[in-house]
Amino acid sequence: MATDLTARFLDALSQSDGPILSTDAFPSIPSTEIKSALDRLKSREMVVYEAIDKEEAILTAEAEGVAANGSPEAKVFEAVQTALQGLKITDLPKAVGKENASIGQGKALKAGWITKDKDLLRAKAKSITDTSREQLQTIQNTRTFPDPKVLSDLKKRKLVKMQKVISYKFSKGPKFAKEFVKEETDLTADMLASGTWSTVKFKPYNFKSLGAPTMSGALHPLNKVRHEFRQIFFEMGFEEMPTNRYVETGFWNFDALFVPQQHPARDQQDTFFISDPPYADTPRADPQETQHLPNRSLSESTTNKASTLDYKQYWNNVKEVHQNGKYGSIGYRYPYSEHESLKLVLRTHTTAISTYMLHRLAANPRPARYFSIDRVFRNESVDATHLAEFHQVEGVIADYGLTLGGLIGFMEVFFAKMGIHKLRFKPAYNPYTEPSMEIFGFHEGLDKWVEIGNSGMFRPEMLEPMGLPKDMRVYGWGLSLERPTMIKYVHNLSSPAEVTNKLCRYAVKNIRELLGHKVDLNFVESNPAVRLEKD
Ligand code: PHE
Repeated sequence: MATDLTARFLDALSQSDGPILSTDAFPSIPSTEIKSALDRLKSREMVVYEAIDKEEAILTAEAEGVAANGSPEAKVFEAVQTALQGLKITDLPKAVGKENASIGQGKALKAGWITKDKDLLRAKAKSITDTSREQLQTIQNTRTFPDPKVLSDLKKRKLVKMQKVISYKFSKGPKFAKEFVKEETDLTADMLASGTWSTVKFKPYNFKSLGAPTMSGALHPLNKVRHEFRQIFFEMGFEEMPTNRYVETGFWNFDALFVPQQHPARDQQDTFFISDPPYADTPRADPQETQHLPNRSLSESTTNKASTLDYKQYWNNVKEVHQNGKYGSIGYRYPYSEHESLKLVLRTHTTAISTYMLHRLAANPRPARYFSIDRVFRNESVDATHLAEFHQVEGVIADYGLTLGGLIGFMEVFFAKMGIHKLRFKPAYNPYTEPSMEIFGFHEGLDKWVEIGNSGMFRPEMLEPMGLPKDMRVYGWGLSLERPTMIKYVHNLSSPAEVTNKLCRYAVKNIRELLGHKVDLNFVESNPAVRLEKD
């Protein structure tokens, strides 16, 4: 037991003048036990010690036999010497054993101890020294041999093996005492009452020890990434859009965005439809409509309500532009269904909100920057990189005289703030933007281009029915929050240096580890704040 050991060590030290080598004084005790006992003594400065790694020689089973009974050559000599008339070679195995006979005969001859006379062996030396046996006995007692050449020779003959041993050399420390005094950890009422408080030894505080982790709530990694994105938007002068409406009408999710009513995205396969109730009421006037925006800080909500475009007019403009064409557009020319506009859906993109906010902006047109980060829903089959609900980061900029070059330039600044410096734009198609561009970013860690977002300039067919001025242009873009989280999130940091390490990436390979019922709460709890690699 460790406690016994500490007492034995202290005892040994009190009787010795110099340091003690554990392998000499306590050869049979395992080194792990020795170390833990020494550590206990060391923490109280009662001993000091150092570990010594060394190699020891030990005998093989065969060598142990030699050390105990003599070498084969010595045995052969003895047998030959006792046969006064000489020993027949054929009788040697019977006298000393087969093994000893075959090895020992040659060696005894070579050493000049015996001679061969036809089929007879005769003794030549009067007496011999069995050096092999003596060498092995020395090794057995000292675990080493003074002449390294002899040792390596014995190793080659497989009589000796080397083995690593840790030995501890310990001596008295500054607070050495013969006894291991129990140190108190707490001052008790009894000690105060009896007065022993003044004589007992207290264990010193360990100010370096880590406290026990306390149970507490934790922010989900996605929330932390969302926070970073919000900071970027605020830095760039954006206002946050109210996203508290998961259920939208077909009108705000699709029609107002000039998405034709036959568009495949409006299919059951891509969109979740609400079954109860399946339809919204017919549109009402403005005061009702603004009720779901309780905490808006967006300035136009209070100042210019009066000049908001009449909702009926907007409703009709949208129908017109789809069905017959308007504002210089030939439209889609299909019979537009107002009933379809009222269908309730789980919003498939936050662009439904951007659209709503742009229509509000039309009441008082002026340059504006809006963003939102919230949940959207798509009826997709779930796999490692797709979820039926995810978060969209969305931004819109409205201003006069905006150009596509300006959108590209803005994207470069925006994504640089997330640490993505190389961008490529690929022409794409959205019913509500023209031109449209998919945005690709070069992922240094994966060493390839990955799609990071979708963008474009909103079409006049979307903006003009709202009443926005003809010369006002609006950019928009959207990306998922999950993707940058999966690649950027800093996982299990072990040093502050890692935070700044550009290649530090989040290990989430499956999106379901990030969102949904499979998320491991430990993972949420143990993750530090996110760092987007900002300049
Ligand atoms: N709504 C688009 C999407 O879901 C993103 C987008 C927003 C594209 C605004 C262009 C303009 O991918």
